[in-house]
Amino acid sequence: MPPKTIKKRYWPEISLFRIERLSKEHDRNSFVCGNEALNDYLYKQAFQDIKKNVAIVIAATDESKRVAGFYTLCASSVERRVIPPLTTKRLPKYEKIPAILLGRLAVSVNHQGQGLGKRLMLSAFERCISIDMGWAFLVTDAKDERARLFYLHFGFIPLLDDVDHLFVTKQTIMEAMK
Ligand SMILES: CC(C)(COP(=O)(O)OP(=O)(O)OC[C@H]1O[C@@H](n2cnc3c(N)ncnc32)[C@H](O)[C@@H]1OP(=O)(O)O)[C@@H](O)C(=O)NCCC(=O)NCCS
Repeated sequence: MPPKTIKKRYWPEISLFRIERLSKEHDRNSFVCGNEALNDYLYKQAFQDIKKNVAIVIAATDESKRVAGFYTLCASSVERRVIPPLTTKRLPKYEKIPAILLGRLAVSVNHQGQGLGKRLMLSAFERCISIDMGWAFLVTDAKDERARLFYLHFGFIPLLDDVDHLFVTKQTIMEAMK
């Protein structure tokens, strides 16, 4: 069940992190989250994506500017045929529904289980809501079962093509953030 509301209450140490766009000032080299592909993305690909305007990368950084977590957002769409029927009923009859892709989200192993993932998810939700553009869903691809359960915890629902391909409606996000 999606959470009715997402409490904006953080552990005090977590609120010390700055949430900001990734920049060259940040130290990415010590970032390890337990998933090689996500580590490599931060080391090798993140700045390429920023430079080529295909994603924004938002980082949680500590007082030494070390990256403790990050997420990415970019424009996307979802094919109508993979959307559960209960949701399609409320949509216009377009083949593709405008969406935002939460491409990656990761927290350093040193900080996992302390609320930073939740803070990053809230930041992503807030950022999406404030974008002045039409979109109906936030979508993501869970890398493994643990990640899938994390997303389900925040109200994401599987699409029909793959249990790891998940979405949450803009309406659900707005209601949860009230
Ligand atoms: C998945 C990940 C981002 C979670 O970050 P985190 O900082 O450890 O999570 P938090 O401590 O902020 O937990 C936030 C909430 O989610 C819940 N949660 C965390 N991991 C969960 C899981 N695997 N299953 C279910 N709930 C989970 C927590 O209990 C907490 O609940 P609350 O809102 O009631 O307090 C982090 O473990 C990670 O980076 N893992 C490796 C990379 C990865 O798999 N990324 C996902 C992209 S596919």
